[in-house]
Amino acid sequence: MAHQILVTGGAGYIGSHTTLALLEAGFEVIVLDNLCNSSAESLRRVKLICGKAPTFIHGDIRDRILIDKVFAENKISAVLHFAGLKAVGESVREPLDYYDNNVTGSVTLCQAMSQAGVYTLVFSSSATVYGEPLQMPISEEFPTGVPTNPYGRSKLMVEELLQDLAKSDPRWSIALLRYFNPVGAHPSGMIGEDPNGLPNNLLPYVSQVAIGKLKELSVFGDDYPTQDGTGVRDYIHVQDLAEGHMSALRAIVQKTGVDIWNLGTGTGYSVLEMIRAFEKASDRTVAYQVVERRSGDIAECWADPSKAAHELEWKAKNSLEAMMNDTWRWQVNNPNGYVND
Ligand code: NAD
Ligand code: UD1
Repeated sequence: MAHQILVTGGAGYIGSHTTLALLEAGFEVIVLDNLCNSSAESLRRVKLICGKAPTFIHGDIRDRILIDKVFAENKISAVLHFAGLKAVGESVREPLDYYDNNVTGSVTLCQAMSQAGVYTLVFSSSATVYGEPLQMPISEEFPTGVPTNPYGRSKLMVEELLQDLAKSDPRWSIALLRYFNPVGAHPSGMIGEDPNGLPNNLLPYVSQVAIGKLKELSVFGDDYPTQDGTGVRDYIHVQDLAEGHMSALRAIVQKTGVDIWNLGTGTGYSVLEMIRAFEKASDRTVAYQVVERRSGDIAECWADPSKAAHELEWKAKNSLEAMMNDTWRWQVNNPNGYVND
């Protein structure tokens, strides 16, 4: 029987692309998702793309009875853990929801894994755990910083609890993957990012302005110490992230302990560069206005991706142009995301 992988949050943006990559590589995939920020339509589309479907379980990672049952009824060898809440502003308003989903949810999942004797885990962390680093690019040896919001703190707490867990029991094999800024969509245009309501992140916002759903983009500050004054980030194609998970999984099944890898490209682009690149890909104008800085934002953030290159033989391959073209194709084919109204 093929290896079974449990993917929590597998109906979501990054989880659905990684589920597709796993299925294409011959793994059997079980997706556990409560659909609080996604639709099962993403998994139906995964099947249309690759001809295979994951087993879908509609449920919550905090539901211990359910997770125990999932482990008891299947032969799961590893878990890719994407499930969680990710909106920074909402985390400030609803901190308990964030600590409950992200921290309690991860604790419950690890307790169930431990009971089931499954010790291989890939966790979705974020560059947000570095706080405001003093220099660029950011390497994994940099100390973690002070995240400015409950979302960031919940990610750092989970990283720390996973470190403690691995120290307490040498059977654990854990990858902490620190994503930089995921963007893009599968090149088919069939799966992509489907934010609920007003997008928080730059590219979904730009894309909805280009298609005419939103009037104009607010550029949060043009007085940062960067090349054009706007914020600089390391945008990485979601297809490269999916490949990064496959490489991390292959690496950690051979060893134990905790490994941390940055998943970024090593190149930063400013907000204005992103707008221009999107205009080129879409052949549309993106109206924008410069407004005040957004509180909690840092000037610049990009990865030193060399550790993953050496240890995982993984590198982001997709260009900025591919990120933009694929985002636009997804947007045009699915103006309302997965809901066709
Ligand atoms: P997403 O919201 O599209 O996917 C998360 C999925 O988890 C959703 O399908 C949601 O329904 C599910 N979920 C949430 N809480 C759950 C629970 N308690 N039980 C079961 N399912 C639950 O987000 P994404 O962009 O795909 O992010 C995936 C992971 O990567 C998250 O942990 C996020 O914090 C992390 N991450 C994302 C980014 C980013 O920019 N997208 C950056 C760094 C880290
Ligand atoms: C944000 C979160 C971070 C999270 C990441 C991925 C904050 C402070 N940080 O990172 O914790 O891990 O998303 O979900 O929210 N911008 C605009 N106008 C917009 C939106 C963004 O000018 O409408 C700018 C921002 O100022 C920034 C860049 O675009 O310079 C990228 O922003 P965004 O996509 O929100 O990502 P981050 O802020 O890097």
